[in-house]
Amino acid sequence: MPKINVYTDISEVEREAKKDYIDRHSPFIHCEPSAKAGETFEVTVQVGADYQHPDDMDHYISSVALYNKDTKVAEATFFAGSQGGQDKKGNTRVSFGVVLEKDATLVAHAYCTKHGVWESLPEAVAVA
Ligand SMILES: [Fe+2]
Repeated sequence: MPKINVYTDISEVEREAKKDYIDRHSPFIHCEPSAKAGETFEVTVQVGADYQHPDDMDHYISSVALYNKDTKVAEATFFAGSQGGQDKKGNTRVSFGVVLEKDATLVAHAYCTKHGVWESLPEAVAVA
């Protein structure tokens, strides 16, 4: 089982290189705080907020997965080149349309081919 790196607030991290390392690997969930039961709800996940991750052949973000509590509800696969390719950097981003039936707690995972699994902060969605 790979280690899961959970996001920590980089405003509390002193070293610039460490802020960059944490931010560029961490998935950030963007969605409304509430949803209507049974309707498609858009959830966008972007890897990195203030920093960008490399897109090299041997080092890139290869997947973004979305969980609702313990259940994986969506996953997108990326290949080297999706962010411009060798020696380029980017913020891998994907939008999912998911249907929620009751209050949800969303968590995203991003997978870096060199640095493993990174977990977002949880995002609560009230469903009515
Ligand atoms: Fe990485």
